Amino acid sequence: MNLQLNNKVIIVTGGAKGIGEGICKVLADEGAIPVVVGRNAADNEVVVSAIAATGGKAFQVAAELSEPEECKKAVEAVVAQFGRIDGLVNNAGVNDGVGLENGTYEAFMKSLHKNVVHYYLMAHYALPELKKSKGSILNITSKTAETGQGNTSAYAAANGGRNALTREWAVELLKYGIRVNAIVVAECWTPAYDTWIKTLSNPDEKLKEITSKIPLENRMTTSEEIANATAFLLSSKSSHTTGQIIHVDGGYVHLDRALANA
Ligand SMILES: NC(=O)c1ccc[n+]([C@@H]2O[C@H](COP(=O)([O-])OP(=O)(O)OC[C@H]3O[C@@H](n4cnc5c(N)ncnc54)[C@H](O)[C@@H]3O)[C@@H](O)[C@H]2O)c1
Repeated sequence: MNLQLNNKVIIVTGGAKGIGEGICKVLADEGAIPVVVGRNAADNEVVVSAIAATGGKAFQVAAELSEPEECKKAVEAVVAQFGRIDGLVNNAGVNDGVGLENGTYEAFMKSLHKNVVHYYLMAHYALPELKKSKGSILNITSKTAETGQGNTSAYAAANGGRNALTREWAVELLKYGIRVNAIVVAECWTPAYDTWIKTLSNPDEKLKEITSKIPLENRMTTSEEIANATAFLLSSKSSHTTGQIIHVDGGYVHLDRALANA
């Protein structure tokens, strides 16, 4: 299937590592020009260079997205470079464990800025260009919005917000032909996941326990699997798909986990 993404300029927040990096690489393989927007220019550049080394095109903008003004500047930098935006992947975020008992007002609000406020701001600032290109938006979200996790109120609330904004924007942007979808991630192997699992007392055992509960093939989802679905949902090959919250999770959220090892 030719996804017809050739030379499409697509912003990927948090594109330097993990899921975002996987998305940038798949988009570049499809001929698109992913723009890594992330907090560390050197990390962003590693991905841009890796894509260039395989003959692809990419660009990067350094921005700390929890600072509202940096979201605006990042979008402006992309428009200054290319004069267009064909797609936006909102992906940057962190499961930062601000719970009911251990949290504070300040920590809760800070986490919302890290995890959902920039989703809104990036879409807000990119919208004039997306209207011109009839581009599309893809929000990466987490299973915690639906399953809970415990001790991570702000992150769960932010992900509930990411899902709600997907439906809300899909409706608001119908009139412009802009499609908006979400991919829900459950257990995907990334640098952030690696860091988290190492904070537990017996990481290897815990990982085995988690993967044994992932129904399809008892394994983690890969960044590339999230990226393949993302590329399809950004492309015109999904031209009648909007407002959908799609789980690329090996059946983790919806299938009967009691049968995962059957
Ligand atoms: N890995 C999983 O299993 C999993 C599960 C559910 C949801 N998610 C979601 O997927 C997204 C990506 O997660 P990941 O595991 O790839 O993370 P990661 O930490 O491995 O990579 C995220 C990248 O985004 C950058 N980033 C994060 N916050 C930023 C900010 N405020 N400003 C600029 N750059 C920022 C980081 O520096 C990093 O380069 C997150 O929103 C996360 O909530 C991941």
